[in-house]
Amino acid sequence: MRRKTGIDRREFMRRGTAAGAAALAARGASGAAPAAKIKVGVIGCGSVSRKYLPHLAGCAHAELASACDIKPERAAQAAKKFKIPNHYPQIDAMLAGAPFDLLVNLTFMQEHGRLNKIALEAGKHVWSEKPLANTYAEGAALVELAKKKGVRIWGAPTVVNSPQFEFMARAINARKLGALAAAHASYGHLGPDWSAFFYEKLGGSMPDLGVYNLVTLTGLLGPARAVTAMLSVVTPMRTVGDKGEVRVEAEDNAMVLLDHGKGVISHVQCGFNYFTPFQHDDTQQDHHTISIIGREGSLHLCGYDWAPHGVDIATADSRSFTRRATGAQGYCWEQGASVICECLATGKEPRWTAEHALHVVEIMEAARESQEHGRRVALKSTFPWPVVEGV
Ligand SMILES: NC(=O)c1ccc[n+]([C@@H]2O[C@H](COP(=O)([O-])OP(=O)(O)OC[C@H]3O[C@@H](n4cnc5c(N)ncnc54)[C@H](O)[C@@H]3O)[C@@H](O)[C@H]2O)c1
Repeated sequence: MRRKTGIDRREFMRRGTAAGAAALAARGASGAAPAAKIKVGVIGCGSVSRKYLPHLAGCAHAELASACDIKPERAAQAAKKFKIPNHYPQIDAMLAGAPFDLLVNLTFMQEHGRLNKIALEAGKHVWSEKPLANTYAEGAALVELAKKKGVRIWGAPTVVNSPQFEFMARAINARKLGALAAAHASYGHLGPDWSAFFYEKLGGSMPDLGVYNLVTLTGLLGPARAVTAMLSVVTPMRTVGDKGEVRVEAEDNAMVLLDHGKGVISHVQCGFNYFTPFQHDDTQQDHHTISIIGREGSLHLCGYDWAPHGVDIATADSRSFTRRATGAQGYCWEQGASVICECLATGKEPRWTAEHALHVVEIMEAARESQEHGRRVALKSTFPWPVVEGV
């Protein structure tokens, strides 16, 4: 399937987002010198930083310059463990301190938009954990601000980089499934127990979990045109490490229907009340978390899309399921900021775009609107698609 969208990826790249990759390679965010290594400032030294920091520390194109956390002891611990020369208790102090090129934002979801904006204003590139912003309007303003400042912004998740995503994109494009009809994705567990922000307003299972499946399905099937959703709270009170017992204000259960045009409809379900026998450890299990179904074949992803390990495919020509695209082949979900350092240092373009992350923010906002008003919500955003070169 090769449906043209408002923006063709190659055209988008040719026009040159934020002055183009060559310009990025030629200078750091701060000025003139060629950037062999990108100086990184990491903000948010909690749970996910324990995956990011080792990866960045081993990245040939990254130099860990500063760590920052409003819990200063966390920044100090991270600095000590990873030999980061500077640590700070808040973003203003970090920006006024040792220079860096790229802000890696690993803070509470509700803080992403605000902190990303401050960093862009200061002329820093940004890699943000998901979501890029809390609303579409906030995210669109960030993308505009980045263009104005001549810097770049990108956001997790990194799922489009997996070899399994690429295999599925190529199979769909080669029409191995025939005319596409439907897709389904599911991601859930029993919910984080360390921080309250997951359950506070603008938290929830969509921006924490569903976001992965939304990036995968829009990445494979193209930008969505409309959303219908039902959201709910199954567990109204939670006990979390940083605040004790808290009331759940954001959905912990979501069903989101997407219209991709040309008759293709997909569905994402996610939640913080999903029993699984292995919780997050079931990345190596055989169960399918994503299915793509056409008239002449179907694809089924083994393991979660952030850590998949194979794709089962059956087609009208080859009716028994065979497993393809096995193994990680160098991909891991926590590679986002390191890949961005490599891209900034060498001039390569990453496979993901801010526009794709922003489209998914719009979907999540539309899902909330659909739940609130009981209606289908049209989307206005799009992104450079297809996302795999040569597809
Ligand atoms: N934990 C995971 O396994 C995981 C995996 C993938 C993505 N993520 C994403 O990573 C982000 C962080 O999640 P987490 O689980 O690490 O949360 P966390 O609560 O463990 O860590 C967040 C850290 O950010 C700090 N922080 C919050 N606001 C700040 C501010 N304004 N300035 C400086 N520091 C600030 C907090 O003090 C905390 O140490 C979220 O967007 C989450 O969805 C987490």
